[in-house]
Amino acid sequence: MKAIILQAPGGAENLAIQDVVKPTITSGEVLIQVKAISINPVDIKTRNGKGIYGRLKDEGGHILGWDVSGKVVESQDAKFQIGDEVFGMVNFPGHGKAYAEYVAAPASQLALKPQNISHDEAAAATLVALTAWQALVTNANVQKDQKVLIHAASGGVGHIAVQIAKHLGATVVGTSSAKNRDFVLGLGADGHIDYHGYDWGTHPREFDFVLDTIGGENIDRSLEVTKEGGSIISIPTGLNEQITSRAAAKGVKGYFILVESNGGDMERIASLLEKGILKPHIFKTYGFDKIQGAHLQQETGRTVGKIVIRP
Ligand SMILES: NC(=O)c1ccc[n+]([C@@H]2O[C@H](COP(=O)([O-])OP(=O)(O)OC[C@H]3O[C@@H](n4cnc5c(N)ncnc54)[C@H](OP(=O)(O)O)[C@@H]3O)[C@@H](O)[C@H]2O)c1
Repeated sequence: MKAIILQAPGGAENLAIQDVVKPTITSGEVLIQVKAISINPVDIKTRNGKGIYGRLKDEGGHILGWDVSGKVVESQDAKFQIGDEVFGMVNFPGHGKAYAEYVAAPASQLALKPQNISHDEAAAATLVALTAWQALVTNANVQKDQKVLIHAASGGVGHIAVQIAKHLGATVVGTSSAKNRDFVLGLGADGHIDYHGYDWGTHPREFDFVLDTIGGENIDRSLEVTKEGGSIISIPTGLNEQITSRAAAKGVKGYFILVESNGGDMERIASLLEKGILKPHIFKTYGFDKIQGAHLQQETGRTVGKIVIRP
């Protein structure tokens, strides 16, 4: 089969298509014929030798990627039969090996793809959707009528987080630059803040929960507008202690989370997709042969929604 191999940590030019042996499956796994995958900032960080490269480097033959949608062609688990269309985030934070024509995946990490959405859309609603779900629902337990601030609301995680927060009944404000204001409001956000030159010091401490997708000084700005007793989850870096102590000084609960593969959460996301409550936005679709260009686009930090790759 064809796969995209990371030949050495570094730039996008280190990604190359190669013929490799098709993966074999063991008990509890299925073999997926890939129809679409999506990429994320963690792919770029890992490609550069950061992210979770440290966990993969001893395994050899690096195939990046975690987000997959496709058809089951072999099954060693009663949950899925040959021919089922499935999607999910495979083995994160481990070796997902999704940049390939076939992916071996634990059945417990997958859900059936809703029939009313495409494989492109399904692939786009995996890592980012799990992150938003696990932040807003599993960890922050966002409630109806709470006020929620979503940073980078036009990005992969943010655009899904806005929709989930609205579904939970929260009042939602999203940040992005002015050019993406209409996109963010179109997701259902009640308010928008253009982060360029915004004076956070004059904004009231009104938010019960903030999802920080930017890190650094953005955490301090966010703490200025988070209610005492509220919470902030910061996802870009794993510097939990820094976030926790900075937040505690403001009377706020602050922490880092790392998304984890979870089939139960994928089923909840599938249900929202099926009902049309959640709609992933696809910025652009590339072929495997254009993976380098897709990575260059992802690392601009300017992508709206998701980048999808088709084998
Ligand atoms: N811990 C975890 O489990 C986890 C999971 C998923 C993602 N992450 C991390 O979370 C971060 C965001 O991921 P993502 O997939 O959402 O990224 P992304 O899709 O690349 O985000 C791009 C968006 O960010 C907006 N943006 C850039 N700078 C901004 C700023 N200062 N304020 C507000 N918006 C800004 C851009 O809009 P404009 O062009 O309008 O600025 C763009 O639409 C990354 O660092 C990623 O690695 C962590």
